[in-house]
Amino acid sequence: MSMSAGALQVQSLTKVFRDRGGVAVRAVDDVCFEVKRGEVLGLLGPNGAGKTTSIKCILGLMRPDSGRITLFGQDIQAAYPRILGKMSAVLEGSRNLYWRMSVWENVAFFSALHGVGSREDREYFGYLLKLFSLDEKRHTEVRKLSQGMKQKASVVCALARRTPLVFLDEPTLGLDVETSLELRSVLKRLAREEERTFVVSSHDMDVIQDVCTRVVIMSSGRIVVDDQVSHLMSLFRTRAYRIRLRGPAPQALEERLTQEFASVRVTDAETDAEIRVALSEDGDIYRLMDALRGEDAVIDEISHEEVDLEKVYLEIVRGERMRS
Ligand SMILES: Nc1ncnc2c1ncn2[C@@H]1O[C@H](COP(=O)(O)OP(=O)(O)OP(=O)(O)O)[C@@H](O)[C@H]1O
Ligand SMILES: [Mg+2]
Repeated sequence: MSMSAGALQVQSLTKVFRDRGGVAVRAVDDVCFEVKRGEVLGLLGPNGAGKTTSIKCILGLMRPDSGRITLFGQDIQAAYPRILGKMSAVLEGSRNLYWRMSVWENVAFFSALHGVGSREDREYFGYLLKLFSLDEKRHTEVRKLSQGMKQKASVVCALARRTPLVFLDEPTLGLDVETSLELRSVLKRLAREEERTFVVSSHDMDVIQDVCTRVVIMSSGRIVVDDQVSHLMSLFRTRAYRIRLRGPAPQALEERLTQEFASVRVTDAETDAEIRVALSEDGDIYRLMDALRGEDAVIDEISHEEVDLEKVYLEIVRGERMRS
């Protein structure tokens, strides 16, 4: 194993599901990406994009049709099952705890399966329970916990083994706002202090924007974006405009803009109209100005739109849908 090897390398991963009628779904279609050590990667995409299937293939829970997966420089197929000691996961919506055992018993049990349970390890379990404010519930049976507490207990189980790579599929699902914030800060802290690598899949763009440095966006089994969050945001910031008109928007203007630009929204704020538009090519700003002049719109103010990851994500996914 070379020291420079990244945490995870996925090469040409493909997984096809065939139903009884012989119809094939290419759930994961020639997917390639890498995750560096200590990185928190966001794996995004609409429902059915292939995120969970990819994660299951990497974890060895599902057999891919083709592709190669390397973990810390080792081929997972060749190093299986020993390699499982290097990764842990919380999968979406699965009941991954024993409901009649206490929180502590669950954490100790799942860790023991992997030979983790020394005194130092147990101290770490206690540390995690404190971090997640589950300390008071350590001896409570899981079935008696609230939904959010169960979710947190699952995350603690996945973190307790201190594997260098952790997959979290929808970790904040069902968590209240405060608890979600708590989970985010814990993840950032563990990534920073313990140099652990995380792959987080979520539909909550606030969570992704907060914890991830890079995102991979999947759509229909393929990767459509693989980029730094900051870079994606700045790309979109320079392209998203808000134009305030003096007076209402002429009827013909709205029609023309919707025809000419993929992402445009015209709203009437009191007496003045507001246009929000995301341009995709360099020359677009001139076409936009031509349209405004051609339809006799009076411009009051032009500014860059505030962008957040959710807007960026929606635009990418919608653009993808229009293309296919
Ligand atoms: N066990 C399975 N058998 C057959 N088809 C499956 C199976 N698991 C997933 N699929 C199909 O594979 C595709 C990808 O599903 P997957 O669960 O990977 O999506 P996802 O990106 O995790 O979506 P979500 O955001 O809804 O969790 C979907 O079309 C789904 O119907
Ligand atoms: Mg999923």
